[in-house]
Amino acid sequence: MRFKEKHVIVTGGGTGIGRGIVHLFAREGARVVVANRNAGNGNRVVDEVRSQGGTALFVRTDVADPAAIENLIAEATKAYGPVDVAVSNAAISEQVSSALEVSAEEWDRVYAINVRGAFLFCRACAQNMMDNGVQGSIVTIGSMVARGGKMAVGAYPSSKAAVIQFTKNLAKCLAPMGIRVNCVSPGVVATEIYANVEKEMMMDPGAFAEWLVEEAVKNGQLLIGRAGEAGEIAAAVAFLASQDASYITAQNLSVDGGMDWCW
Ligand SMILES: NC(=O)c1ccc[n+]([C@@H]2O[C@H](COP(=O)([O-])OP(=O)(O)OC[C@H]3O[C@@H](n4cnc5c(N)ncnc54)[C@H](O)[C@@H]3O)[C@@H](O)[C@H]2O)c1
Repeated sequence: MRFKEKHVIVTGGGTGIGRGIVHLFAREGARVVVANRNAGNGNRVVDEVRSQGGTALFVRTDVADPAAIENLIAEATKAYGPVDVAVSNAAISEQVSSALEVSAEEWDRVYAINVRGAFLFCRACAQNMMDNGVQGSIVTIGSMVARGGKMAVGAYPSSKAAVIQFTKNLAKCLAPMGIRVNCVSPGVVATEIYANVEKEMMMDPGAFAEWLVEEAVKNGQLLIGRAGEAGEIAAAVAFLASQDASYITAQNLSVDGGMDWCW
């Protein structure tokens, strides 16, 4: 119960890794706000948490929209008070997999959610912490693709590299206020983030993540030869958000089974 009565906001908490993060914080006593663009998924996770005796609230949010972020902070703090922990998890990948084919519009869409969205959300939460004298914690979600060239994808990998760098810059700004900021970079986890590429390659749901793992194992690029679980990413996020990590800030923690895609 490291987060008893703590107010935690998780963006993109309606599916995949975000859902795992919401459940872990709720199990450890937090009051969790699920901020998601998709109301069906967001409400479903809130129902799951409540049915297990936890406390959660859904606030429909498009992280790329400053007005929506303002509304999120207003609704969340009205319900649960000042923000203690912010997890910037919402992201998308582009619809075409080649860097040569991605359109300028698609590039902007990916950056608007992954980079601008992370910036808007983290800064708003930081402001709320500072206004209330909360020495809280912010965790962003990067990716192993930010440091490897395995995929030819256009916007997504560089957007995640931007998130990692922004995390470090924000950590420097917030250190004097006792607010820590870190990033968790997952490896392969079978989630809906691969839905676009699976559609493009006419693969079944889950098949792309499976293929990535097989390829990485074959090439000696994945020490723990399987995909990760959402709960394994959530465990790292909760560690960095907790007092167990009280001397850790401005770090990017890879949770990727020892994946090395750099060449
Ligand atoms: N699955 C992987 O292998 C993997 C690997 C590395 C990093 N990641 C990162 O993990 C995080 C979670 O992704 P996931 O794999 O669980 O995929 P996912 O598609 O299941 O989750 C992303 C969530 O973000 C939400 N979202 C998208 N745009 C939004 C917006 N504008 N506003 C609010 N919510 C929005 C979606 O509705 C969805 O619930 C992302 O940051 C992703 O980049 C995933």
